[in-house]
Amino acid sequence: MLLDTMKAAVLNDYGQALELEEVRLDPPRPGEVQVRIGATGVCHSDYHVIKGEWKYGLPMILGHEAAGVVETVGEGVGGVKPGDHAVISFRPACGVCRLCAMGRSVLCEGPGDRFKMHDGTARVHRDGQDLLVLARVGSFAEQVVVPAEQVIPIRDDVPMDVLALIGCAVTTGVGAVVNAAKVEPGSTVAVIGCGGVGLNVIQGAALVNASRIVAVDLLDNKLEYARQFGATDTVNGSAGDAVEQVRALTGGGVDYAFEVIGNGKTVEQAIQMTRVAGTACIVGMAPQGSTSSFDPLLFVNKETKLIGTWYGSARPRIDFPRMIELTMAGKLKVNELISRRYSLDQINEGFECLGRGEVARGVIVF
Ligand code: APR
Ligand code: ZN
Repeated sequence: MLLDTMKAAVLNDYGQALELEEVRLDPPRPGEVQVRIGATGVCHSDYHVIKGEWKYGLPMILGHEAAGVVETVGEGVGGVKPGDHAVISFRPACGVCRLCAMGRSVLCEGPGDRFKMHDGTARVHRDGQDLLVLARVGSFAEQVVVPAEQVIPIRDDVPMDVLALIGCAVTTGVGAVVNAAKVEPGSTVAVIGCGGVGLNVIQGAALVNASRIVAVDLLDNKLEYARQFGATDTVNGSAGDAVEQVRALTGGGVDYAFEVIGNGKTVEQAIQMTRVAGTACIVGMAPQGSTSSFDPLLFVNKETKLIGTWYGSARPRIDFPRMIELTMAGKLKVNELISRRYSLDQINEGFECLGRGEVARGVIVF
């Protein structure tokens, strides 16, 4: 079905609520796919943009954690057809650059900019004006047109809200453990920040049989969720120094500490929580211009490793189906992550709940 207009939530100003508007969506051009969104998650990455912590240009349709049903495909598109259920990847993959050749397509920049299609033009418009779309997706809308390689077809018996979370939180969190840090069975792990992504780091660590999983957050309700997803110990960072508490629990620090907030200070804590020969892994995405500091001598004396991981260092075509099989086999909890479901009209309430830390994950269901 080709649309004249559709409903979308538009960010017109930083620090302001999203506005529900009628916008126009062009049909897919060659190499693009139109997807009817079934569900899309309320992630802190979108919230960073709303708060103006990341400024990429306005007006923009946010939303990058999404799944839906393919409506139409542009010329020359293979491997996906109308009616397919699909999880949307929020990173492109040109297929020919050095990073794609390395199997690290998450780091591919693709042609053009990150907020339009690869040919440099926009598919969504309002009164003749182009609208930017976050990560070439912009799923806070009834439909999207995205580069074809970002549409990963999936088995059709999985609920859309579960599929949507595979598109960011699950892949980012579990991937940080299995693809980036490569946590070994029996290791000790600390996870700072137990939101939608952090809970997936926790369940990823449980999946690979970490022996201790220490969850750190400032909110007791988040620590309660953390227990449900596999944390063996919890630390409330507002009840005393988080680093000291983790060190005391683990006899001097953990093998792997994950920062899953996006905060320069908690990155420092992650480094300080690692034991000798440990690895600190940054998953959270800090506001633009943030800094952290560390003692360089300790990196030598302790052979500490500091690594970062984007999108779980995933290869979406391999990792999305794997995450879904693990979920359907009961080895990952995804439905259990969803504490609230909203309609698109309730999207601002969704971000308020995220901001107040009330939910594990909220999802907009169409
Ligand atoms: N110490 C401990 N926990 C904290 C602190 C702190 N100083 N500050 C915030 N938190 C906790 C919050 O209480 C919340 O539980 O961090 C968690 C963040 O979770 P969400 O808001 O649900 O964010 P999420 O969607 O999981 O994203 C986390 O990953 O992908 C990135 O851009 C994303 O930077 C963001 C991060
Ligand atoms: Zn996200």
